[in-house]
Amino acid sequence: MSVKTNVLKTLEENRGSFFSGEDLAVKLAVSRAAVWKAIKELEKEGYEIEAVQNRGYCLAINNDIISTEGIRTYLDDRNQKIAITVDKVTESTNKNAKMCAIAGGSHGTLFVAEQQTAGRGRRGRSFLSMKGNGIYMSLLLKATVNAENVVLITTAASVAVHRAILKVTGKKTAIKWVNDLYYQKHKVCGILTEAVTDCESGMIDSIVLGIGINFKVERENIPLELSDIVGALYEQEDANATRNELIAEIVNQVMVICDDLNNRDFLMDYRENSMVLGKEVNVIGSESNQSATAIAIEDNGGLRVRYKDGEEEVLCTGEISIRLT
Ligand code: BTN
Repeated sequence: MSVKTNVLKTLEENRGSFFSGEDLAVKLAVSRAAVWKAIKELEKEGYEIEAVQNRGYCLAINNDIISTEGIRTYLDDRNQKIAITVDKVTESTNKNAKMCAIAGGSHGTLFVAEQQTAGRGRRGRSFLSMKGNGIYMSLLLKATVNAENVVLITTAASVAVHRAILKVTGKKTAIKWVNDLYYQKHKVCGILTEAVTDCESGMIDSIVLGIGINFKVERENIPLELSDIVGALYEQEDANATRNELIAEIVNQVMVICDDLNNRDFLMDYRENSMVLGKEVNVIGSESNQSATAIAIEDNGGLRVRYKDGEEEVLCTGEISIRLT
């Protein structure tokens, strides 16, 4: 690790507290001049580092630059070994994770970007991925799963992100089936799950979990045509958490649930925080739209709806989309 990386790691782990140049130099077994040079390099990259005589250096509490060191600071011990790539700009983190899966990348590999130029959404839509205020992350999960479990992983991911947001920011999101998260009636997170199939066995051997979150976006910066639907976790107020913390906590939560997917306890959280259960929904099929009542989330993650004529159907990801009426 370079001196710069080590200095950042130490400051990140002690965010808000001062570390003298001398202590840093001793801790990292380098010269004070090397520490000073590293601090200057970090400042050039945009890190706000307070330098006070006789006290030393301190990484500002609300300095919110995504970094590998920053994410690692908040990862559980069991996730410390995962490979992390943070890009300033990339086409799509899902694309990167899929390429990594094909090249034999390992379980838990994480791709994050500050900006995506071709962010992908579900159903072939694009996902607006502006610089500086969002989280665009993709997690590679190595799992031999059948098609049914892919739906369950998507459902599990919604619960994991919901729990992580609650823990890190204190904000309670609602889950719109199957995997959008809403905060104060506006969409703040979308999840795109993509499966990678092993051509020889024909089995799904990796899942790419792509998560896009509007972290801090002021209302006037949301494009007008999206402003009725799209929101952010923080709009006006200062964030009381950093994106590094939230990214790491999402990884922690996903790993816990996905390790034991057959234990479907997480579905309780899913049902409790569902924003569609008991509501009238509009089921948009390939041929026509029908209104129905959402009555249950099944154990496989499917949504059971009851149509006006009393007929019931269990909907699965990909077949339909839902609009609250
Ligand atoms: C949706 O709401 O339609 C799903 C959006 C998923 C967006 C995320 S951002 C990180 C990852 N990379 C992508 O290209 N897409 C996903």
